[in-house]
Amino acid sequence: MKVLGIETSCDDTGLALYDSSKGLLINELSNQKKIHSKYGGIVPELASRMHMKNIVRLLDKIKRKHINFMKEIDLIAYTAGPGFYSSLLVGATFAHSFSISLNIPIVAVNHMEAHLLSPMLNYKSIKFPFIGLLVSGKHTQIIAAHNVGKYEILGSSLDDAAGEAFDKIAKLLKLKFPNGNELSNLATKGIKDKFHFPRPMIHHKNLNFSFSGLKTFTAKIINENILNEQKKADIALAFEDAVIDILLIKTKKALVKKRWNKLVVAGGVSANKILRKKARIMMKNEFSGQAFYAEPKFCTDNGAMIAHLGFLYYKQARMFPLEIFIKSKWSISDL
Ligand code: KG4
Ligand code: ZN
Repeated sequence: MKVLGIETSCDDTGLALYDSSKGLLINELSNQKKIHSKYGGIVPELASRMHMKNIVRLLDKIKRKHINFMKEIDLIAYTAGPGFYSSLLVGATFAHSFSISLNIPIVAVNHMEAHLLSPMLNYKSIKFPFIGLLVSGKHTQIIAAHNVGKYEILGSSLDDAAGEAFDKIAKLLKLKFPNGNELSNLATKGIKDKFHFPRPMIHHKNLNFSFSGLKTFTAKIINENILNEQKKADIALAFEDAVIDILLIKTKKALVKKRWNKLVVAGGVSANKILRKKARIMMKNEFSGQAFYAEPKFCTDNGAMIAHLGFLYYKQARMFPLEIFIKSKWSISDL
């Protein structure tokens, strides 16, 4: 079965074709970073207008490269939420028009679940249950994943998401937008232990996070210091260290609580090289287990993860009614 995946939840427009037996056949992505960088953040109204242009451009590009593309699709999967309402609407409308005109079944999928299961694009061997660390620009959650569609949220951020904290500190350090990756690159030039940042809530029994205090502390250090390139790198490293420590300390508690030894790290922040390395070492040394993540290009938003999850929904016969379905706030525990 071949599934067309459509992603428009934020500022990336993604179209992909996933074959349930051969894997990913097509993966096209168009981003709008240049436009939003002028404003230092994503402007939803502009994002939805750009999605309208980009989605048609991407479809034309795919049709030029793959002449039989339209005839090959057996199922359409689109991101129905969470995300910006106006951005979601573009993908949903496009998906439904496609579905009605070509008489192809359609499923509406949850963006965060798609992130969480995206490592399965490469590792078909990942089996439930596992602990998921879902770290994106808007979410930081620890999840007990029991099956497709069956998740228990064990902990969440009470304020900023980890990605959001990366973005805000990167902005204060005057790095290019989008910023998480830039901050992480800068941190590679930092000298260890020049600064030490707090790790809020690590001693609390619950599995929740808080990043806003760490952010304020870092902002204060940035304001108090005369910044040269080395100092910026030292701050970036200390900040990155603190965020990753917090994430892994809480994840470890969840693994101990459930007595599981499989970890899936997903979402944009899972592209972070240090996080990947430390999670791998922790799983091996402390749990005799394994950590899984998606290929870096599938960590951030893309159509491939949507197509892949669409197929899994189809296998469970979880189809949605024909009217346009979008849910700007749609928790993974409420599927
Ligand atoms: O999952 P995603 O593409 O979008 C949402 O669904 O929110 O995640 C984007 C987030 C941004 O906050 C970005 O700064 C962060 O992922 N990110 C990173 C890295 N690459 C992307 N954060 C830390 N280190 C990275 N290498
Ligand atoms: Zn995302």
